[in-house]
Amino acid sequence: MSIAYLNGEYLPLAEARISPLDRGFLFGDGIYEVIPYYSGKSVGLVPHIERMINGLAAIEIKCNKSADEWKVLLDDLIARNQGATNNLGVYVHVSRGTDVKRSHAYPENVEPTIFCFTFDIKDPEPVDREKVHAYTVTTAEDLRWKRCHIKSTALLGNVMHFQQGHASGDSECLLYNAKNELTEGSSVNAYIVKDGVVITPVQDNQILPGITRRIIIDSLKADGSIKVEERIVTMDEVYNADEVWISSSSKEIGPIVQIEGKPVGDGKVGPVWEAAFRIYTDAKFTHS
Ligand code: PDD
Repeated sequence: MSIAYLNGEYLPLAEARISPLDRGFLFGDGIYEVIPYYSGKSVGLVPHIERMINGLAAIEIKCNKSADEWKVLLDDLIARNQGATNNLGVYVHVSRGTDVKRSHAYPENVEPTIFCFTFDIKDPEPVDREKVHAYTVTTAEDLRWKRCHIKSTALLGNVMHFQQGHASGDSECLLYNAKNELTEGSSVNAYIVKDGVVITPVQDNQILPGITRRIIIDSLKADGSIKVEERIVTMDEVYNADEVWISSSSKEIGPIVQIEGKPVGDGKVGPVWEAAFRIYTDAKFTHS
């Protein structure tokens, strides 16, 4: 049984436990490294540690271990797991830590969770083109971070945008793509209202297919008194809208009165929001 390191303690890997409220589990809110050690000798240890420290700083996880302290910790863990000749990888995971609730914003006064364990890795391949293991690959367009339609728990990108809004005293952060088109918010769908028409970005890989969004669109269409369009919405349209809303299961339909410090429309919650929220409220328990 390999010996793991968890928050200052060494223990058998199978006995290591963290809370399901850990933000690494809930949001993918953490940084990791994998470092190889061949017969006790590391490869690239210092750059691995530097990359981890840089990643932690980039997402504002306050982990106060110096590069030297990391080196001592990892070398020690390897020594505890090292047999006579074996090769080990060490997996290092630092999450933002365990909060008492689930909230996208970075919690204050939470200690990072530090978890490391080792695992066996293969011997290096022979330096011999006749004997080396060769690989085959397929190819794909790089779609990483472009699969926003999947309600994945890998929410670090969302969390970082949410924190951006939170840090500036705002409740959300509206997002746009490289073409300056509105997509959604970090944890909400988004809408504008212009001349009485509700307009929301089309459902594609750039937005989550929100259930609240679905109920809003369906109930407004069934009611018929407010026109709804699903189409591209430019950021210019957002800034010139009469009303802007957000929606989610926890916020229902939220009216936005200010974007980047500038008022939306006349800076007050608009009449279309009120009419739409009434229609939504009447329909929400019967929508299936
Ligand atoms: N967020 N877009 C994103 C990126 C979301 O995370 C959510 C939901 C929505 C709205 O989806 P729905 O209407 O199905 O709740 C849109 C939830 C509430 C959250 O992460 O807490």
